[in-house]
Amino acid sequence: MIVDRLGRRFKNLRVSLTAACNFACSYCVPDGKRLMKAQHELPATDLLKAVTLLQQAAGIDKIRITGGEPLVTPKFDEFLLGVMQLPLNDVSLTTNGQLLPKKHDVIVESGIKRINVSLDTLDNTRFKNICRGGDLDVVLGGIERILDAGIAVKINMVPLRSQNADEIVTMLDYCMERGIELRFIELMRMGHLLNGQGFQQDFLSMESLLDAIGEKYEFARTDAPYDSTAVRFEIPNKGIFGIIANESEPFCRSCTRLRLSSDGDLYGCLSSSRKQSMSDLLDLPTHLALPKLQKMLLGALADKKLAFQGEVTVMKFIGG
Ligand code: 5AD
Ligand code: SF4
Repeated sequence: MIVDRLGRRFKNLRVSLTAACNFACSYCVPDGKRLMKAQHELPATDLLKAVTLLQQAAGIDKIRITGGEPLVTPKFDEFLLGVMQLPLNDVSLTTNGQLLPKKHDVIVESGIKRINVSLDTLDNTRFKNICRGGDLDVVLGGIERILDAGIAVKINMVPLRSQNADEIVTMLDYCMERGIELRFIELMRMGHLLNGQGFQQDFLSMESLLDAIGEKYEFARTDAPYDSTAVRFEIPNKGIFGIIANESEPFCRSCTRLRLSSDGDLYGCLSSSRKQSMSDLLDLPTHLALPKLQKMLLGALADKKLAFQGEVTVMKFIGG
């Protein structure tokens, strides 16, 4: 097992199926741009092979399927069904929800137990302003059907001062009424937000979120698993919400995440753009591939920082 001096090891793998996305969220994509496929994206069979190797070399036992937007790529079905056959403790999926209706049947058939949907607002006009693509009613309808199928849903909301700051409690109520755990994600300094003014203008801290919620509800902090990135709170008899407080309460010291991009690159840290390519390993017999992969993983673990510093790499490439 590869462990660093803080006791960190890789347990959770995030696999980006494609860098392409049907949305262009203002905090993810610079104005006027769209997210496109990476040049050399790997087919589902290669990504599944990479996952199997990582399971053996790093002891990965949790996988999250991300993008870009994972539901836009034709390889989604094969990858999802394949990954559900692997001996993993947990498989989850992060999606913007637009294609949930189209992919509903394969998602249910796969047996996946939980899904995270990114949703920042319940207002049509704001939805258009923030996501710059898609349709709010389609997303909401898709969520209802997933809940009806007995699959657990979490919603990720990025609170933005200039856009949805007054919807913090509204979103919480929408979620709690449906048994959905809401997770506020503090805005991160990724890509075009790293040096521009956008970050300072729109950032809302954990403290300001808790102030807003405290005006309506009493809540108490609950225990979160050691390697969880979210700080969790309970509103008695109502529900649980979490805050991914990258800035206010950095979680780097207990981070167990490893990322695999759609073109086969491994990233040890969201705050580092150093990457290592797994593509050449995939044609080797396992006994030759594993020692090489072990070496890469040592490098990837050494890339982990002590605190998030922001990064030019855009979330879409490495899946949030
Ligand atoms: N800051 C915070 N969250 C972000 N996401 C994408 N870009 C950023 C950013 N700069 C979120 C998406 C999605 C998750 C994978 O990451 O909204 O929910
Ligand atoms: Fe697409 Fe997610 Fe980026 Fe929005 S945040 S543009 S849904 S990849």
